[in-house]
Amino acid sequence: MEHTISIMAQAERKVTDTKTIPFGKVPTEHMFIAEYADGKWSNARVTPFQNLVLSPMALCLHYGQTVFEGMKAFVMEDGRINVFRIDKHYARFNKSLDRMCMPEVPKKLFTEAIRQLVSLDADWVPRDADGSLYIRPFMIASEDRIGVKVSDEYLFMIVCSPAYLYYTQPLRVKVETEYVRAAEGGTGMAKCGGNYGGAFYPTSKARAEGFDQVLWTDAKTHELIEESGTMNAMFFIDDKLITPALSGSILDGVTRDSLITIAREKGMIVEERPVTYRELVAAFEAGKRVEAFGAGTAAVVAPIASIVIEGVEYNCYTEQDANMYKLREYLYAIRKGVAPDTHNWNYIIG
Ligand SMILES: Cc1ncc(COP(=O)(O)O)c(C=O)c1O
Repeated sequence: MEHTISIMAQAERKVTDTKTIPFGKVPTEHMFIAEYADGKWSNARVTPFQNLVLSPMALCLHYGQTVFEGMKAFVMEDGRINVFRIDKHYARFNKSLDRMCMPEVPKKLFTEAIRQLVSLDADWVPRDADGSLYIRPFMIASEDRIGVKVSDEYLFMIVCSPAYLYYTQPLRVKVETEYVRAAEGGTGMAKCGGNYGGAFYPTSKARAEGFDQVLWTDAKTHELIEESGTMNAMFFIDDKLITPALSGSILDGVTRDSLITIAREKGMIVEERPVTYRELVAAFEAGKRVEAFGAGTAAVVAPIASIVIEGVEYNCYTEQDANMYKLREYLYAIRKGVAPDTHNWNYIIG
């Protein structure tokens, strides 16, 4: 199916000083929107950023049929702009949509919409180190009907906002054994809005106790580490990269996948398998060097300074020579175009 994207560009352009913008606070000047009805996508357009007109009866406002993605565009060393791993983000978007009974977006429409939007707002992609343009594709159920049903109408939209490092300090986290984020058979592997709304309460409680984030455990045993906030959980124990294997309750993180791939290529030992918090305790108590970090598009590699497990606080290794920083540097080098992009991860906008 061919989709023509009409462009309605803003006449007057005014890029703010991107460095001063808190994460996700200021949109770029344009957005993308397409409408789904009668089984097809139509009216795809890039417009000046604007508010939506939505019926209070729109299904997304009531039953949570919403899905989103998050990826980043970077200015490379040679000045060109790339969107990192657009293909994997596209695949995950559709997987989430499928889980939520929402219509697939054609690949060409997805990539072309991002290309047009980022090209138009290219001045908003920060040039300075650590800067990026965060790209948020998302879909909502827009049919106006307050009966509990799968919507027949949807809006697919993309907005962008300049982004810098999400966390500036190593994190203090706690292993959460009371509340759960997701259960197998549920929607944990989908990037749907409800997963995040449900995580607010336990995370807020943890914040009030002085933690930055929780490390979720599985719903059945509360012993298996799952993930943390909007990050996958990764560890280096004795220089071995260990991360929970993907399950139905963990998001298939693009950063996780990139770091695993890079680590293997650099000859590091990588283990994707169940990780219990007891294994972490045993490693700490045996005096092993434990690095712990969150991996995600927003936070990239977020070092964890300490983990509280069953009320005991254990310190992690965060010195400059930590393996996690090496992995981060390798990732930066590929994104910046200074290391070979052997997997075609960089989608060049131009
Ligand atoms: C729940 C959750 N886990 C993990 C991640 C990390 O995934 P990615 O590296 O694709 O950003 C995210 C962010 O998208 C997330 O929301």
